[in-house]
Amino acid sequence: MTEILASSPKASPKGPTSETVLQVEHYTNRLFRFSLSRPASFRFRSGEFVMIGLPGENGRPIMRAYSVASPSWDEKLEFYSIKVPDGPLTSKLQKIEPGDEVLLGKKPTGTLVLDALTPGKRLYMFSTGTGFAPFASLIRDPETYEKYEEVIVTHTCRESAELDYSRELVRHIEEDPMLSELVDGKLRLYTTCTREDHDVKGRITDLISNGKLFEDLGVPTLDPETDRAMICGSMEMTQDTKKLLMDAGFEEGSNAAPAQFVIEKAFVG
Ligand code: A2P
Repeated sequence: MTEILASSPKASPKGPTSETVLQVEHYTNRLFRFSLSRPASFRFRSGEFVMIGLPGENGRPIMRAYSVASPSWDEKLEFYSIKVPDGPLTSKLQKIEPGDEVLLGKKPTGTLVLDALTPGKRLYMFSTGTGFAPFASLIRDPETYEKYEEVIVTHTCRESAELDYSRELVRHIEEDPMLSELVDGKLRLYTTCTREDHDVKGRITDLISNGKLFEDLGVPTLDPETDRAMICGSMEMTQDTKKLLMDAGFEEGSNAAPAQFVIEKAFVG
C-alpha cells in the first residue's frame, strides 16, 4: 500500500491512476473477477480494453491488457482475470482484496466495438475463457439492442465451473428490471464445455462447422448479408473462428474500416 502511495501515480498526467478495489469474486482456481473505482475522467466504449497493473519492484509498474467487462454507463469498472501461478502480474493480482489499490491505464482501446461493424440483423459474439469479458460489457450496452434484432453470445470453457460468470451475468440481466427491459428478449447465451460433461460438449469451431450451433438455436447458418460477429479467445481460437467466417464470405472490419466481423485475442494477465 505505502509503495503505491509513495509512487503516487495520480501525480503523473500520462501514467496510470491508482484505483480502489471494490469487490473480488473467485470462480475457480483459474479464474476470478474484480471491480475497481472509476475515475470521472475515464471514458471508454463497451468492448474496449485497458492496461491494468500493480507497482513492481524498482518502482516500475507491471501492466497487462484487460478487457473492461462492465458497460460504459456503469460507475464502477469490472474485470475478469485468469490466475497464472508464476505470472508476473496475476500471481499478485489474484490476492487483491477490497480496499487495496490497483493501477488503471488512461487509454482504453480495441476493435470489439459496435462501431467497427456494418449494420446487420443478428450479432454473434464467440468467446472462450476470459474472452467473454468484452461481451459482458457489450451485452449490457443499450446500443447493442438498438442496432441488432438478435444477440447470440457463445462461451466455451474447459470445465463447467468456468462458465459460471457468463451464466450468472445473463441470469442477472434477465432478473434485473432495468437490464431486462433494455435487452428486450433479444439476448441468447450458448455455453459449451470441452473437457467435462455439459448440455453441449465441444469446441465452438466444431459446432459451427457441423451445424449443431445453428440447429440448437433454430437459426439459419452464418450469412454475411444479415449476420455480424465478434470473436475473442486464445490466438488459435480467434484464428480458427476467423477462418470459418471468411470461408462463409465474411470480411474483417476495424475502427477505420467497419465490415462484417472483428477479432481480438483474449489477453493473458
Ligand atoms: P480444448 O479443451 O479442446 O482445448 P483455454 O482454457 O486453454 O484458454 O481454452 C478455453 C477453451 O477454448 C477450451 O474449451 C478449449 O478447448 C477452447 N479452444 C482452444 N483452442 C481452440 C481453438 N483453436 N478453436 C476453438 N476452441 C478452442
